Amino acid sequence: METIATTSKSKSAKTSDHPSGDKRFKALEITMKRAQFRQDALIEVLHKAQEAFGYLEEDVLIYVARGLKLPLSQVFGVATFYHLFSLKPSGAHSCVVCLGTACYVKGGGEVMAALEKQMGIHQGETTADGQMSLLTARCIGACGIAPAVVFDGKVASQVTAEAACDRIKDWIK
Ligand code: FES
Repeated sequence: METIATTSKSKSAKTSDHPSGDKRFKALEITMKRAQFRQDALIEVLHKAQEAFGYLEEDVLIYVARGLKLPLSQVFGVATFYHLFSLKPSGAHSCVVCLGTACYVKGGGEVMAALEKQMGIHQGETTADGQMSLLTARCIGACGIAPAVVFDGKVASQVTAEAACDRIKDWIK
């Protein structure tokens, strides 16, 4: 699914050649390089990314995961867990439903539909009371446990529509 140009740590890596042509990815590459692509620099790198992009969109998370050679699910988990990071304008809680191919064919679409109905919002939106943001991802790198949903930064496996609605019911006032 991704078309990002590199997975390499080598000096010849050209992570700046992001297909979007967005120069902010070059700045992000420099940040990762300064940190010597250390995996424990993840939070620092995400912080810089959010400064540059305003929030952490999916392409940015993929870029960072590849640069630091971390599983995308881990980067996603950290980005959704810490309140200082935002994947979009976010509520007090976040629920990210993976709608990548593996998750979709295993029922991710039904999970999303059930959550939208229960919360009265559409994907990408936050409830009016600011309690929950409902977000999507195309693949969080956890296809083996599809369908995957990230609740407040914790990846849940083989989530059914019923289980997802049950999981968030305490978030609704
Ligand atoms: S498609 Fe959902 S984790 Fe890969």
